Amino acid sequence: MSAIIIVGAQWGDEGKGKIVDYLAKKAEVVVRYQGGGNAGHTVVVNGKKTVFHLIPSGILNQKICVLGNGMVINPQALIKEIKALEEAGTRVRKYLFISDRAHLILPHHIVEDSSGLGKKLGTTGQGIGPCYRQKIAREGIRVADLVFEWPKIKSYLKSKYSPREYRQITADLKKFLKILKKNIIDVSLKLANFDQKRRKIIFEGAQGTLLDIDHGTYPFVTSSSATAGGALTGSGFGPTQIKEVIGVAKAYTTRVGEGPFPTELKNSLGLKLREKGGEYGATTGRPRRCGWLDMVILRYACRVNGLTSLAITKLDILDDFPQIKVCDAYAYQGKILTDFPASSQVLERCRPLYKKFTGWKKDISQIRKERLLPGPTKSYLNFIEKSLKIPIKIISVGQDRKQTILV
Ligand code: GDP
Ligand code: IMO
Ligand code: MG
Repeated sequence: MSAIIIVGAQWGDEGKGKIVDYLAKKAEVVVRYQGGGNAGHTVVVNGKKTVFHLIPSGILNQKICVLGNGMVINPQALIKEIKALEEAGTRVRKYLFISDRAHLILPHHIVEDSSGLGKKLGTTGQGIGPCYRQKIAREGIRVADLVFEWPKIKSYLKSKYSPREYRQITADLKKFLKILKKNIIDVSLKLANFDQKRRKIIFEGAQGTLLDIDHGTYPFVTSSSATAGGALTGSGFGPTQIKEVIGVAKAYTTRVGEGPFPTELKNSLGLKLREKGGEYGATTGRPRRCGWLDMVILRYACRVNGLTSLAITKLDILDDFPQIKVCDAYAYQGKILTDFPASSQVLERCRPLYKKFTGWKKDISQIRKERLLPGPTKSYLNFIEKSLKIPIKIISVGQDRKQTILV
């Protein structure tokens, strides 16, 4: 048992990429198991920034990187991402493996996602929802079809596109195959082999618990299983081999796109979090909505993911707040709610009940040992640990790989 799952505990952008990159040093394999180009995972190493959309954040450590069957892959976008990384000096194709069972995002998915429902929900416009819809309807096109069922692809494309579009798309898919055919594998088989040899596997979640199709703030969610369970179905790896599940949570909360957000700060404090935290989407550049930490959400994330520990990120962003608030429960129609509600309508009407903490008013970004953190910072972290009943194993105090405290 040496596999760990890393999941976002909030609405995405918690800093999963940074944590995966940090932990990948001691791992052999990093696996993305759901989502696609909607993800934007930023990793900063010695001041050099890299943003990943499809490729696992383990690649900078030159570890085996796997795109699982639960993913939806835009072939053009993948080639572009590989090319950019290789041009910047990172070897990719030597380490990258793609599931033969992953689904392909085609241009019509992107067109559909950029209108109607996609617009209303504030999606990333990457074709994610429409592609997963076809997958569930059993009409999708998989990577294996490119290799083994070209006639099926041809008739599928002919039914969807004009002759000119058809020629362009088939040419693009052939190019994809030419570049990456050798990298297409049975992921489940490969992971079982690694596991048998006791090699450490990291599953890298994309999005976050509250964007999960089942457990998130439906319908303001993404279309995949971002929670820990998705790591299993999205890769063909068995649950008995999972040793740890690490939840990544920001020291405050953010969300991009539409949907309820009880602790959102629609005032100067929210703007301060956004500016200090650089809270702009890595995929779409949209400003992220910002607010205080919400323990109702984190307790829920602990439960649905079976978290064994937490990584707290962006603690440094709170450095110059004189007072920090944490929501510990919601008030709803005269009652107190401590469990996260199913209905987005209910959540919309929940009022956060806050606990107040004294800010530390110090720059913590250069601290590398937990014991050297200011007293009020420790109190803040202690409260989180006590209330969740799991330990904080990693504290992140800056963007860079080295601005990380292992507890
Ligand atoms: P992900 O999608 O969960 O991987 O998160 P993103 O990369 O989209 O967003 C997190 C942002 O915060 C990125 O720009 C990271 O470089 C940055 N970041 C991560 N951890 C820290 C931290 O501890 N402090 C600061 N200041 N920035 C951080
Ligand atoms: P990472 O992996 C934050 C949000 C979108 C939208 C909703 C549905 O970087 O944490 P989609 O395009 O998936 O159909 O959009 O989900 N969303 C994210 N928000 N981080 C992400 O990924 C996200 N991926 C999707 O803004 O509200
Ligand atoms: Mg992100």
